[in-house]
Amino acid sequence: MTIKKIITEPNQLLRQVSSPVDKVGKEERQIMDDMLETMYAANGIGLAAIQIGVPKRMIVVDISKEENKREPRYFVNPVIKNKDTLKATYEEGCLSVPNQFAEIDRPKKCDVEYIDYDGGKKILKAEGLLATCIQHEIDHLEGVLFIDYLSKLKKSMIIKKLSKNKSTRIVV
Ligand code: NI
Repeated sequence: MTIKKIITEPNQLLRQVSSPVDKVGKEERQIMDDMLETMYAANGIGLAAIQIGVPKRMIVVDISKEENKREPRYFVNPVIKNKDTLKATYEEGCLSVPNQFAEIDRPKKCDVEYIDYDGGKKILKAEGLLATCIQHEIDHLEGVLFIDYLSKLKKSMIIKKLSKNKSTRIVV
């Protein structure tokens, strides 16, 4: 397993729509292993393949808090079904939007259809933090970031801040 570099906003790659995976093979599992390792190293609870530069519909999630009780979940071609009309609000952050946080409302419960690590078709009933996390990650597959739900002003302030942090300022 390899820790990969996480792409951060602003970067056009993060706006790309990821392509469906035809088959979960060795290569796909390798990518998911790397994604998980990268996510753990960055102390995240979810990561989409595009965040390490791979435009494929794959996400990994682990909302367990303790390091010795890890519960990795892998979702290939995930699709949300039956969204709850009730909303849940969490203060969200994103490994691709470093050090920025905002309260986002999302459906409290949802069903997710996906293919698992071994290539099997699955359905998961998710709620609370898990539901929010999966929805956040699936947004990445559509090129959507949590900051897109904020007002134009808030969003542009965040992007400005991130752009500043990226440039190397020198005084000579
Ligand atoms: Ni994210």
